[in-house]
Amino acid sequence: MVKKAVIPAAGLGTRFLPATKVQPKEMLPIIDTPTIQYVIQEAVDAGIEDILVITGKGKRAIEDHFDRNFELESHLEGNGNQAWNDEIRRLSDMANIHFIRQKEMNGLGDAINHARFHTGDEPFVVLLGDTVMRSAIPVTQQLIDIYEQYQCSILGVETVPKEKVSRYGILGGNQISDHIMEVTDLIEKPTPKEAPSNFAIAARYILTPEIYKALEETPRGKNNEIQITDALKILMQREKIMAYKFEGKRYDIGNKLDYLKTTIEFALEREEFAKPLMAFMKEICSGKKKN
Ligand code: UTP
Repeated sequence: MVKKAVIPAAGLGTRFLPATKVQPKEMLPIIDTPTIQYVIQEAVDAGIEDILVITGKGKRAIEDHFDRNFELESHLEGNGNQAWNDEIRRLSDMANIHFIRQKEMNGLGDAINHARFHTGDEPFVVLLGDTVMRSAIPVTQQLIDIYEQYQCSILGVETVPKEKVSRYGILGGNQISDHIMEVTDLIEKPTPKEAPSNFAIAARYILTPEIYKALEETPRGKNNEIQITDALKILMQREKIMAYKFEGKRYDIGNKLDYLKTTIEFALEREEFAKPLMAFMKEICSGKKKN
């Protein structure tokens, strides 16, 4: 059974500078809710109660966000703002959230390796802290269901257009159905010609504890970092890895354009913003905005 989640959130966020100079990119809000809160909610909605967040320098705001804030709570209570008081309290009770610091930014593989003593000999889910998923069934739940079936590492994937494969880690293998593939090949950022499929690794994984052994043997790769994809290639030689094309939409807030698009899409779904925002966008798009 998968009971634990690991959320890497230590990265420098260089694609989002200067906002991320002192502020964790995982705390960038989509309107009013920090990105990592959505990520933690996804894990909780999938029944995970034990979450380890990999943090690092400049990431204290993440810890504070999921801690009690007595001053704020008593202020809200004093003002009769019970609804917000309840919501603020809920954040500190969402799950058992633990933190560990990655002292040097040695890559995603190294970040995951920091979870070794926390997850022990259990399989665990990895949710990238800068990527929100929206789906009818939480993506984490979908992966857990597939894990129950195959009892091996499961890579969450999405299909990408052939011409965009060079931005992703692309998988090859035996396609078992539209949604499931047994992975035998993994190529980082291939050209469209090299790509064995259009299945791209997409921010959610279930990993077996054997990944730690593979990580031990993984040399530094691209950007001189320990890459999780390199460790997966080692793991692939030793045990079965499946890829599962989940139902849902991925929002990567680590780059500025996708962050903007995400904010607009989420805002248009909120009753209080939809109409005025749509009117504003129509106005500026038709070039009528004066100031
Ligand atoms: P990214 O590669 O998108 O994050 O990693 P980054 O390195 O912060 O981004 P840029 O390229 O500099 O803008 C995906 C997730 O993995 C975490 C990040 O915090 C992010 O949530 N991560 C990445 C770590 O925890 N440690 C690392 O060494 C690298």
